[in-house]
Amino acid sequence: MTSNINYMSGVKGLKDIDVTGKRVLIRVDFNVPMDDQFNIADDRRIRAALPTINYCIDHNACSIILVTHLGRPKGTYEERFSLRHIQKRLERLLQKRVEFIEDFEASKAEISSCSLERVFLLENIRFYEGEKKNDPDLSRKLGEICDVYVNDAFGTSHRKHASTYGITEFVQTKVAGFLMMKEIEAFMKALEQPMRPIALVVGGAKISSKITLLSSIMPKIDKLIIGGAMSNTFLQALEYDMQASMVEEGFVETAKKVLEDARLHKVKVYLPVDVVITDSVEHPIDVKVVPAQDVLEGFKAVDIGPATLKLFSEAIHLSNTIIWNGPMGIYEINTFSRGTYKLASAIADCYAYTIVGGGDTADAVEKAGEKENFSFISTGGGASLELLEGKILPGFERLDRIDS
Ligand code: ADP
Ligand code: 3PG
Ligand code: MG
Repeated sequence: MTSNINYMSGVKGLKDIDVTGKRVLIRVDFNVPMDDQFNIADDRRIRAALPTINYCIDHNACSIILVTHLGRPKGTYEERFSLRHIQKRLERLLQKRVEFIEDFEASKAEISSCSLERVFLLENIRFYEGEKKNDPDLSRKLGEICDVYVNDAFGTSHRKHASTYGITEFVQTKVAGFLMMKEIEAFMKALEQPMRPIALVVGGAKISSKITLLSSIMPKIDKLIIGGAMSNTFLQALEYDMQASMVEEGFVETAKKVLEDARLHKVKVYLPVDVVITDSVEHPIDVKVVPAQDVLEGFKAVDIGPATLKLFSEAIHLSNTIIWNGPMGIYEINTFSRGTYKLASAIADCYAYTIVGGGDTADAVEKAGEKENFSFISTGGGASLELLEGKILPGFERLDRIDS
């Protein structure tokens, strides 16, 4: 079904090249969920990159340079998004000293001097305006500090940014890391000859970047189940007043189009019939379950209700493949986590090939105690949806190929 995956599996991996004595820049995705005290809630994305980093250390690469983003800063420094919050955990997991580099241009000589076994972690690459703009100047500067580029940031491989895409213009040897290959293999199993019916469950808060993908996914799926903040925009499109809930007003028309496209492709759509509402997210005093049509004035919908949970559980029941991205509510807060955790168990209980993707959704599945009960946990949320759409992900597009 998805020849895009076949194409992506043809890129060179780390084992196809020699990293000995080379300066290796690895683009990783350490965009991990953190609480208000900057504690890492789930370090899965860091652990997932360890095989690639360790391989480079063990094969005598000199200077291993780790580049990642964290959150969505606007091209300038913001303390809460600093990679300093990640450095300690990385050191603990690698059992190795990691040198933090605040300004890679100022430290260029140090980073690019070849010294065995040194691991550098660069400050959040999205503090540079050029990153999201795929600015050739930033790509070139990154290219200048390495001999080999390894992309292992599967979770960010759907982004055409300087460190995930543009940099390939400026480095001779560019390959995929082990995580990228592992993800592609798992999706190949699920999507090349998919076992239908396929149910896609979407939720979460990244509405604008995900809602636009849904129309092109329609031909690939049989059921679309929508919860979380994502569903608020759909309920608003049905002209329910969602009051103070998180809604992306600018995407209400897109939601209407998604519903129309689902009808054209005969995809069954399931939306919340009841929601948990609260007067305040931070200091909830008044929390209720109401029909989705009856959100009280000034209240926010923050989780799916029990009737919706039953509906969604029954809807997925007869599916043979279930793909889930995006929590059903603000699962980080206990009171609003029930819908997400119970849905995690409902999906895990199905006799189906079950894939969960996304930093927060994977965290929720782990917290629900269900991580062993899914067929595959992907580190990619948006990336896995774009894969499902049939796209060649930019993070794979310009890597060296085995056949050339
Ligand atoms: P993933 O990381 O799995 O791709 P997203 O980043 O898109 O998922 O969304 C996760 C976030 O969505 C969580 O922080 C969660 O609190 C938030 N969220 C889910 N439902 C709601 C809601 N109804 N209102 C506000 N935020 C929500
Ligand atoms: C993710 O969490 O999905 C990836 O790290 C990509 O983040 P982005 O949606 O901010 O580009
Ligand atoms: Mg997220």
